[in-house]
Amino acid sequence: MLALTTPTPPAWLETVLANFDDFLIDHAACERKASATGMAFVVRYPDRPLLLEPMIAFAREELEHFHQVYRLIAARGLSLRPDEKDPYVEPLARWVRTGRDARLLDRLVLGGVVEARGVERFGLVAEGLPAGELADFYKDLWRSEARHVGLFLRLARELFGAEAVEARVAELLALEGRVVQDLALRPALH
Ligand SMILES: [Fe+2]
Ligand SMILES: [Fe+2]
Repeated sequence: MLALTTPTPPAWLETVLANFDDFLIDHAACERKASATGMAFVVRYPDRPLLLEPMIAFAREELEHFHQVYRLIAARGLSLRPDEKDPYVEPLARWVRTGRDARLLDRLVLGGVVEARGVERFGLVAEGLPAGELADFYKDLWRSEARHVGLFLRLARELFGAEAVEARVAELLALEGRVVQDLALRPALH
């Protein structure tokens, strides 16, 4: 597991629990974007067979999460919303270098770090909700995100070696911590 440098403040969970409908709508978008990220690896790196099977499976699993969250949204009589600028992912995406291999390494590291924040936050939501189906759902997501952290880092290490990966992970964890510190509190995953 990756050690995040900045823990999520308790006020984030309060904001989410007080505006859970808004949180669900943002959460659905995050799952859909995660699925698209998985398929983007498949589209961009067809020459890296190591990536293909796990990334197709990852994209399907995230799409399944999207479907599950969408059903929660529909059951509450809510609607999906168009995407907005993501103040969390944008500065992290700018950290990704250009150049085919550097870009692949960085995108895998970025995937691992974003999933690690998801693990932390889904864990907080699961603990914060009253016991029941919804809390159990977030516990399941917590487990699944934890597997995803391992997946991204394993693929990165297999392709680029542990040393290169650790250096980039350390750099991105420091940046991600600063980004989280500066995030406005919103009923959103980030
Ligand atoms: Fe997910
Ligand atoms: Fe995930």
